[in-house]
Order: sequence, then C-alpha cells, then structure tokens
Amino acid sequence: MLKKIVVGNWKMNGLRGDLDKVSMICELLSDVATDVVICPPALLIQQAATACRGSRIGVGGQDCHSASSGAHTGDISAKMLKDAGASHVILGHSERREGHGEDAAAILAKVNAAQNAGLMPILCIGETHTQKTSSLTRDVLRQQLAASVPHTSTGDTLMIAYEPIWAIGTGNSASRKDVQDLHRFIRDELEALVGRENGSAIRILYGGSVNASNVTDFVGLQAVDGFLVGGASLDVAAFSTIVTSLEIASSEI
Ligand code: PGA
Repeated sequence: MLKKIVVGNWKMNGLRGDLDKVSMICELLSDVATDVVICPPALLIQQAATACRGSRIGVGGQDCHSASSGAHTGDISAKMLKDAGASHVILGHSERREGHGEDAAAILAKVNAAQNAGLMPILCIGETHTQKTSSLTRDVLRQQLAASVPHTSTGDTLMIAYEPIWAIGTGNSASRKDVQDLHRFIRDELEALVGRENGSAIRILYGGSVNASNVTDFVGLQAVDGFLVGGASLDVAAFSTIVTSLEIASSEI
C-alpha cells in the first residue's frame, strides 16, 4: 500500500486573514501519518509555509510556468514556488486546461519544469460529462497520461489526480465503483508508460466533490491513494474529517 495523501486546493480563495486556517490544520492534524498538503493562492504560499514549519503539513502551488525564468509577465516558475517554501504543485487542472487553454504539451513541459525544480507535480486528468456519456473516459485518460507523463517519472517525482470534470465543484462525485475501476485503469497505463516498478509507486488521488460525508465511500478503496479536495478544503473541520477518515480506514486495511 502506498502512503496516503490529502491535498487541499484552495483555488482562487483566501486572503492573509485565512492563514489561521493553515495553523489550525497543522495543529489538528499534528498526529496523523497521512501526508497533507495545502495549496493556497500563490501569494499566500510563503506565509503558509512559515505557518507549517515544524509540522508535517506541506504547502503547494496550483500552477507553474514551464520556463525557469525570463520574460513571462505575470507567471511564476517552479523554482520560485520552491523558493517560497512549496513542495508540491498542481498541474493540468481542468480549470487551467479550460480557462487558460493549456494543452497536453504545455502541461508536459510544466511537469518537467516542476520535476527539475524538485517539486512534486500533481498531474490532474479527467473526462468531461460528454466524454463520459460517449464512453470515451478511458480513451481520454489514456491520451492525457501518454501526452503529459514524463517517461522517467517515479513515485518520488509524480502523483496523478483523477478528477472527472463533471464532478468538480458540482456536489456529484464519481461512484465508488467507477473510482476503483478507473484508478486501476490509470495504474495499468502508468505501468505501461514508465515501467512496472515506477508505475506501481506513483500515487493516484481522486478529486471531484469529495467532502466530509461522502469521503467514507472512497476511503476503503485499495486503488485510491488519497484525495485532491477543492471546496471542502476551505473548511478546516471538513478537511480534517477527510484526512482522519482516510487515516482510520487505511490503518484498518
Ligand atoms: P471540488 O474541487 O472538491 O470542489 O470538487 C476539486 C478540484 O478541483 O481539485
């Protein structure tokens, strides 16, 4: 069993006054063995990292540029995130694919940049509702993985987040069976891309309307190595419940 992890994606939410939440999470989750990473807006990373110092909670970015520096107005490099105290970075989130026209090649370049900077990329993949109802989910996931996973990736340099787009922020999470089946499919694809040993060590997270109530549907699934949580990560109690539910279920497997 791979080490479990819960990542909180604050998206474009949070001001300096919300850094209290980071301190509260560090305190509430000081004893858990599960890895926990909070990805606040970029401007809060440095202070969040300071608040997490001495705790087991990590801090991550929500995107990075593929270049390490240069004339890219408004962008942030992987090196800068690392310098600010981040250990992880979410890449290829559907909100960036759709809202910023990021294609698979651009995402591959960002994953490479993150790996080169010593950050752990959390590569998001997932199908739209139309693709799902057209039975294209597996084709889409296969293509996204093939186009954006560097072939030298290992469990120490890559994580995948399966996030069906129709499940993000809608309150409609994927079914337990679909999550289990699709995570197994993703595992097989990863092993084909990077080799069995490395592919079996890459953690695969589920994301899409995970909350404190429905998390119990997924925590016992062998194929689920953790969660990428959006909306519920803004609520300290809900986020902590998600982490502790996963922790308890994992210790019982
Ligand atoms: P959600 O977002 O938990 O609010 O559905 C997940 C994500 O977009 O990472």
